[in-house]
Amino acid sequence: MNPHTTRRGLLGALAVGSAGAVAAAITASAGVRDDAVSAATAAPGTEQAPSASYPFEGAHQAGILEPPQRAAVFVSFTVTSADRAQLQQTLQTLTSTIRYLTSGEDVPYDGMASTSYENGVLGTQVVPDGLTVTVSVGASLFDKRYGLANAKPALLRPMDEFPNDALDRSMCDGDLLLQICANNRDTALHALRILMRATRADLQVLWRKEGFMSPPRPNGTPRNLLGFKDGTANQEFTGDRTLVDRLVWTHGGHREPDWVEGGSYHVVRLIRMFVEFWDRVSITEQQRMIGRDRDSGAPLAGSKEFDVPNYERDPYGNVVPVTAHIRVANPHDGSADDQRMLRRGFNYSGGTDPNGQLDMGLIFVCFNQDLERQFVTVQKRLIDEPLVDYISPFGGGYFFALPGVRNREDWLGRGMFS
Ligand code: HEM
Repeated sequence: MNPHTTRRGLLGALAVGSAGAVAAAITASAGVRDDAVSAATAAPGTEQAPSASYPFEGAHQAGILEPPQRAAVFVSFTVTSADRAQLQQTLQTLTSTIRYLTSGEDVPYDGMASTSYENGVLGTQVVPDGLTVTVSVGASLFDKRYGLANAKPALLRPMDEFPNDALDRSMCDGDLLLQICANNRDTALHALRILMRATRADLQVLWRKEGFMSPPRPNGTPRNLLGFKDGTANQEFTGDRTLVDRLVWTHGGHREPDWVEGGSYHVVRLIRMFVEFWDRVSITEQQRMIGRDRDSGAPLAGSKEFDVPNYERDPYGNVVPVTAHIRVANPHDGSADDQRMLRRGFNYSGGTDPNGQLDMGLIFVCFNQDLERQFVTVQKRLIDEPLVDYISPFGGGYFFALPGVRNREDWLGRGMFS
């Protein structure tokens, strides 16, 4: 941050929601994202220095290709901005606040008598700590309120209720989603509080879920709460700009409005896991449901985690059952190549339910170029997989991750209004 810019000046500007004042208050460059494909090469869940930061500006938002950090908060909001101009200002305030939070700075002494905008959770220095804040919009934002109907990403809609789902609609959808991820939980919560304070009049919380990424145990991909490595198949995206462009980023033209270029359909599914039941299932049966070895993460037809399963040699499913999760999700026969998606899920643990059962599960997250061709198609194939007896999707939503902020004059969602 520019040394002549005081934190109080910045936060005061945020408080009154004046984007112009904020833009003037923030003059330092937080760095420009090139194309974050290379960021995906870092191992998920590995420990990083507090100074680790992801550039804010670029063609795409951060928090998509970056390896999942240790802590995540998903918060869905109802937008209460009075009109279109106020919504624009809210998005500008989000932009400037995220730019500030992700770059890090010292917290100057505000004086004991004043109400400080800094909540103090991070002490005297706000380090970036790998923070990413990804802003996505839901279908309901494109209703009559803000005159955005013609700008709606073509496939955006309220989340489908699939057979075997038990959706609690109070935990579904929303106008705007913040996906806040950081190396530590306090960093994510600090960001959430600053962001909510800056947008208090315009964003009302609809639902919220916190998640965590386990460290790799012992190495490779971190595990989910069923004990299996989760995220292995993402490796094929690593460093492959062409694949990311074909499967992750949405492009303008055809049926999509031009402004969606560089964004992505952002699916969040809150999935409870019945871990007590799962723990009573033999390892052999667990492995046959997933299709992978629990310890090594290798496909049952292979020996190492990143081996690509060859189902042609096992047409009847003697080694990897034809109903196994990974085989149904991706039959690897060429038919589903365009259905692959970038998954970026987190574990969650939320106490116990009224029956004393552990409330644990997965915040399933994926980014797709085409919601229908990718997530929805794969989810439909998974409807009756054996794993459904041990899981219960209850919330989440379909969102659209806005394109990135390209420069100082740009702001999140600007294209929607053109
Ligand atoms: C609680 C629910 C779920 C659990 C426990 C789970 C678990 C796993 C595990 C352990 C793997 C293997 C490792 C890997 O490649 O990541 C995997 C792979 C995969 N899962 Fe899931 N998953 C769940 C939900 C879903 C959902 C909702 C979808 C999408 C509709 C999905 C799509 C996939 C895909 C596409 C793969 C990669 C398949 C491949 O290319 O081999 N999963 N999942």
